Amino acid sequence: MHPSTTINRKDYNGEPSSGGFLIKNRSRSGWQVACINSFVRLQTTFTPADFEALAQTDLSETTCVVFDILRATSSMVTALANGAERIRPVATIDEALAAKAEYPEALLCGERHGQRITAEQAKGTDFDLGNSPREYTAEIVTGKTLITTTTNGTRALRASLGAREVLVSSFLNLQATIDHLREASPKRLVLVCGGTFEEAAFEDTLAAGAIADAVWDLFTDDSIEDSAQIARALWLAHGASLNASIQHALNARRLLAVPELAADVDFCLQRDTIGQVVRLDPQGWVA
Ligand code: MLT
Repeated sequence: MHPSTTINRKDYNGEPSSGGFLIKNRSRSGWQVACINSFVRLQTTFTPADFEALAQTDLSETTCVVFDILRATSSMVTALANGAERIRPVATIDEALAAKAEYPEALLCGERHGQRITAEQAKGTDFDLGNSPREYTAEIVTGKTLITTTTNGTRALRASLGAREVLVSSFLNLQATIDHLREASPKRLVLVCGGTFEEAAFEDTLAAGAIADAVWDLFTDDSIEDSAQIARALWLAHGASLNASIQHALNARRLLAVPELAADVDFCLQRDTIGQVVRLDPQGWVA
């Protein structure tokens, strides 16, 4: 919509709208007026196609919650719960290698096509860990700095970096995330799904819907986008049978087909085994 004039609601015909702006939009069929509540908003983004728009949006008054259930955010939350000091999510293997040069003691982590990144993919450097949360044991990660790059999850985090607050969420720390959001009560909340390759991910949308449902009463109808309605409806329909419904998800089917990765699916679907709120800070560190 290209508004030719932005008017505030008192200039309109007095239709009720909660605190937002009404946009007069000149079009072929004449004036159209839409009421959007630009101050308060609950929204979900579903695919990596949304990352670019997110990165170009003024998020300074927005809280983003990022999900990559299978498996990036589940692995990050697990690593921190097991004692990792901090995690640097980066979008590419080259960025990971550059970060390693800056932090030589850091562990190189991450995946391509679900498997640990090998020397062949990383200019002769074998990564230390893949992206299975089960690898991030206390014995290996306690006190460590981690550098990680994954197919979607780290990209979603980088796209959210300009937000007032960026939370890293999973089913493992879902309730801790919800408790924090209800206390913080952000006016603008974007639930960012990492997706699978370039598509929407069933499991990320489910988790976004769980959060949407848990904060629903904090938002008024005209501030809730359809994208949040969709995610919440999916959660209400399938949230009670998570393990059963997730078997149809592309990412789950991909992991279940690899014997050494199959157990990651059930691991990542555990509810609230971690009571930590995990954030991405403005300097790009997850802790
Ligand atoms: C992603 O970031 O796309 C996923 O975490 C990939 C994976 O863990 O296999």
